Amino acid sequence: MSAHDTAGSNLVNHWPCGVPVYREPVIETPLLFFAAWAAIGMTLALARRLSPVGPFSGMNDTYAWGIWKTFNVMTLTALGSGPLAIGMAAWVFNRREPHVVMRTALLSGFLFYATGLVALGFDVGPLDQASWQAQRDKMLKTCNQCHSSNFAAQQLQYGDDMIRNADHLMAEAIRTVADLYKSGILPKPKNYAYPFPDLLTFHDAPTVIEQKLFVMYLEHRMRTFQGTFHSSPDYALWYGWSEMQRDLTEIQQLAAEARRAGHVAAVNVNPVATQASPPNK
Ligand code: HEC
Repeated sequence: MSAHDTAGSNLVNHWPCGVPVYREPVIETPLLFFAAWAAIGMTLALARRLSPVGPFSGMNDTYAWGIWKTFNVMTLTALGSGPLAIGMAAWVFNRREPHVVMRTALLSGFLFYATGLVALGFDVGPLDQASWQAQRDKMLKTCNQCHSSNFAAQQLQYGDDMIRNADHLMAEAIRTVADLYKSGILPKPKNYAYPFPDLLTFHDAPTVIEQKLFVMYLEHRMRTFQGTFHSSPDYALWYGWSEMQRDLTEIQQLAAEARRAGHVAAVNVNPVATQASPPNK
């Protein structure tokens, strides 16, 4: 190691060593003060980990969870990224001045970024089977205040079964439309990400068959299982399930007619929304 190396070829020489970091007292009032805050934070974080997001986020229809999430993603990541710029200036562009703040920058970068990473583990909602089951058990306990647990479990099972059956119908309808795309009978709008219908195109979908599919999904499928969970068999059957059956029949009939004709005429009411290409005749 050469003490005469001022060109930067031996980077080790350029560390400023005038900052005393050893043999300084560590446990002092500021450390204890911030350690106490950290302890409170970690306790709350742990409680949050063991509980659903709702009670901790103060989330409501106006202030969604995303507003608070910004603190983690934007603030901590931004503060944590600063040292990268300092490091680039010091080591890549070989500027001497920032070396003085390099240690401080690295430490702050590590602390902010590490905090952001740890916070990630606490601010996302649990979507695993165990968390779902915890909510289901809670619901069953509520029903159990007045009904036997077997009765309550059976009622909720009806709802689960209804979702499964509705999704089977839905899958059949989606496949029917996707098959038309595949065989080129129905031109797939260019802005769809997959070779499948994009249900979120809503009523901007360019053909009747695709609009039927959308209504089947967002109107009749909803009524089917929500009606079931609300113990409204009449509503779930007539306004949900029966409508889904009708949708599927009509979609299949329209598909059969399209196959006979060799194409489906796209109406293109709103070509900007779907960028549907004109049908090949
Ligand atoms: C506070 C007491 C209470 C709670 C809690 C409660 N129920 Fe009920 N439930 C009743 C009463 C009382 C009736 C009968 C109402 C009537 O006959 O008009 C009833 C009726 C029902 C029925 C209709 C039964 C039939 O044969 O007509 C179903 C289904 C049902 N409850 C499901 C549930 C489910 C599922 C839960 C939990 C999510 C639940 N209940 C929670 C009191 C309760």
